Parts: sequence; C-alpha cells; structure tokens
Amino acid sequence: IERAGQEHFDRIVAADSRIEPRDWMPEGYRKTLTRQISQHAHSEIIGMQPEANWITRAPSLKRKAILMAKVQDEAGHGLYLYSAAETLGTPRRELNQQLLHGRAKYSSIFNYPARTWADMGAIGWLVDGAAIANQVPLCRCSYGPYGRAMVRVCKEESFHQRQGWEILHALSHGTPAQKQMAQDAVDRLYAPALMMFGPPDSDSSNSDQSMAWNIKRFSNDELRQRFVDMIVPQAEALGLTLPDPDLKWNEERGHYDFGPLDWDEFWRVVKGGGPLNAQRMQRRREAHAEGAWVREAAEAYAAKHTTTTTA
Ligand code: ACO
Repeated sequence: IERAGQEHFDRIVAADSRIEPRDWMPEGYRKTLTRQISQHAHSEIIGMQPEANWITRAPSLKRKAILMAKVQDEAGHGLYLYSAAETLGTPRRELNQQLLHGRAKYSSIFNYPARTWADMGAIGWLVDGAAIANQVPLCRCSYGPYGRAMVRVCKEESFHQRQGWEILHALSHGTPAQKQMAQDAVDRLYAPALMMFGPPDSDSSNSDQSMAWNIKRFSNDELRQRFVDMIVPQAEALGLTLPDPDLKWNEERGHYDFGPLDWDEFWRVVKGGGPLNAQRMQRRREAHAEGAWVREAAEAYAAKHTTTTTA
C-alpha cells in the first residue's frame, strides 16, 4: 500500500495537482505541513494582540470600527488555519497546547511592541504586506485545505494592507508631528517585517524539501526581494523613507539592493528573547484560561445536541 501511495503522491506532486486529507502522504509531508500551518495559525492568533491594544485608542469611530473588523479577521484566519491543520490528523487542542507550553513557534514580528497609532498603519502596510507577498504563492500549495484557506485569507489581507497604507497616508500628509510619528513607525517595523520571510536561504532548513513538495513556491530570499521591490515605490508615494542607506536600484539585476539584516536579533526573537515574547505568551495563556467557560458551554451544547438528534 505504501509503495502505491508513494507513487500516487509523487504523480500528484509532479502534475502540480493537489493532495487531499484522505490521500496517502509521506510522514515528512504531513509533519512539515502540520508545523507550518499550525505556526501560521498561532501567528494569526498572537498577531491580534498588538492591534487589539489600540482598539480603545483609535482616533475616530470609523478607525475603531475598521480596526475591530481587522482584528476579528485575524481570529478568523487562525480558525481556518487550525481547521486546515487538523485535517492532517493533529487535534486543535493539541496544537494549542504546543503554543501555550512554548513548544511551537509563531511569527517573530508579533514580539515587537505597537507603540503609537502610526504603528497600526505600519503593521497594515508592512506586516500585512509581507504576509500577502508570502501567502499569495501559498494559494497554490500542494495541500488542498491549506491552499484553499489561503485564497480567502489573502483577500482579507489585501484589505488590511490597504487600510494600513491609508492610515500612513493620512498621517504623512498631516502635521509635522504626525508625519514624524508615521516615519518613526516605519523605521521600527521595516527590518522586522523583512525578517518575516524567514532566515536567508542558506539557513532555511525546510525550504528545499518544502519546495520539492510544492508547499513553498519561492524561497525566503526570493520573496523578501519581491517585497522590497514592491514597497520602495509605495514608500515614495507615501512621502516616507525606508531606513536602509544601502537601498538602491540595481539596473543589472532589475531589483533593489538592500542592506544586511540583523539575523542574530531574528534568532534571539524566535527563541523567545524578543522585546515582548513573555508578555505575548502570558496574555495568550490568560485569554485561554478566561475562555474555559466558553469551551465548556460549547461542549455541553454539542453533547446535548448529539443526544437530541440521535434520540
Ligand atoms: N518567525 C518565527 N520563526 C520563523 C520565521 C519567523 N519569521 N521564519 C522562519 N522561522 C522558523 C521556521 O519555522 C523554522 O523553524 P522550525 O523548523 O522549528 O519550524 C526555522 O525558522 C527555519 O526556517 P525555514 O526553514 O525557512 O522555515 P519554513 O520553510 O517553514 O519557512 C516561512 C518559513 C516562510 C515563515 C514559512 O513557514 C511560511 O510561509 N509560513 C506561512 C506563513 C506564516 O506563518 N505567516 C505568519 C505571519 S503572517 C500573519 O500572521 C499575518
């Protein structure tokens, strides 16, 4: 069975078609997808915190309504993604335990503070912009449930990026103090956003295999380059500068050159030593504990519903 399964799997991957939950798949494929999709789900859930922090301080009712909708979208993304991960066999409860006990990673970016209202703009423009650049190719991921979840997630991320851009545009065309606040947010979040694409290809342990399995379509460095090329003209249109003196158009390559990133900082943040790792995890554990009654009520309701429908 295993040989036939492997042949079927290889044929599907070679034809650039889709693997579905009931298909045979190599254990490594199942494992790496569970890893990536659950990390992605955790990122969406932890990623609600920096922005939820600003809902009560949004500068107008309209801004508040938009921000609330956006944070709710992130929760929804987390839920689709946990559902997609569960189709690979690991229950959501267990994935959640991995996060709560510090055994699972989530995106480095969410361990940085959101200091001012302008950070809501920079997060939308740069962080969600990087998320889209990374996730559009994932719509073509060989694993069906993940690729399909990504289609909807990307549509919503486009709205998020657009609202971030609009916040920054308003600030950068406001008073000098507002423009400075926008510039300061971009200065702080630019490099961490570039690191969202993961380590340089030479240190990316999973890339080769994930690309061979059509999970990843482009390498970390390729997507990072694509993102830089995209945001340079956008920054110009905003009237803001990107904090990298080495940023320069390279005619020969047809891309922007950019300066080195601080990968020691990246690994420190990934390993728990970022500015807010401890706070983010503490808040997540508290939210989980506070939600116990909701889970109990849902379980009681489901049990009652099962008894009534089978009776
Ligand atoms: N933050 C935290 N950990 C990271 C990051 C990051 N920005 N980038 C890479 N890593 C981790 C990887 O998870 C991997 O660790 P592991 O093997 O223990 O899982 C290690 O660093 C080495 O990296 P790679 O081998 O390059 O890992 P991978 O092939 O999985 O590529 C990437 C990383 C590009 C993030 C990929 O997992 C991916 O595309 N994930 C889906 C998108 C996603 O998770 N986005 C989250 C932020 S967007 C948002 O939530 C709005």
